[in-house]
Amino acid sequence: MRRRIFAGNWKMHKTPAESAALAKEIIAGAAGLKGRELILFPAALCALGVAELCRGSGIGVGVQNMYWEDEGAFTGEISPVMVKAAGCGYVILGHSERRHIFGENDDMVNKKLLAALKHGIAPVLCVGELLEEREHGLTESVIIRQLREGLAGAKPEDTEKLIIAYEPVWAIGTGKTATPQIAQEVHRLIRHTAAELVGQDRASRLPLLYGGSVKPENIRGLLAQDDIDGALVGGASLKADSFLAIAGAE
Ligand code: PGA
Repeated sequence: MRRRIFAGNWKMHKTPAESAALAKEIIAGAAGLKGRELILFPAALCALGVAELCRGSGIGVGVQNMYWEDEGAFTGEISPVMVKAAGCGYVILGHSERRHIFGENDDMVNKKLLAALKHGIAPVLCVGELLEEREHGLTESVIIRQLREGLAGAKPEDTEKLIIAYEPVWAIGTGKTATPQIAQEVHRLIRHTAAELVGQDRASRLPLLYGGSVKPENIRGLLAQDDIDGALVGGASLKADSFLAIAGAE
């Protein structure tokens, strides 16, 4: 049985007080969920407070991005050392908004991923194709490239904490979810490609999350697929009831 993981990507939403209030509601509601791992990704400024609230609850906390150096003259960035010291054990890397709005390329994602592994922070590596890429039949090659380049140089034995999220860019925040079949096809490809990169055994245990307009109404069909182990949820993670409904879905 693979881990079932539900991650909430709060993006650039919620002040520190609002983040704390949402975290408290989620902590209270999560007590009834069995066999589900929850991870919250507040804005970096709110991560310390949320991590303090979540301590001892079994809920993980992470950041949505970080730089690869430990410290230095990198105005506006946060380092893996700070992330760990703030009590955060996870980092989202290569989210499509980072790639397409902020110009992150595979090489930068790779440097961040290696830094996360070095510091024992679990990376949630996001991969996904643009609509034009899908329409031109490029989905497979884009996903394989993002995986190979994102994981370049990672020692298989260091990737035990790795999580991968498939987020088709055309499904993020658009209300369009990939059908469970489309998502499953790409998840199978990811598991297959991961086997080359981290070894067959690790790939068979690797948690693969689907992301892109996940809601309480569409999560069941996704979780019914063989290679979908959970979800990376944006919009629907901003309210405790919808996030908990997703995380509790059978
Ligand atoms: P969404 O975002 O659920 O709002 O589509 C998902 C994500 O970007 O992680």
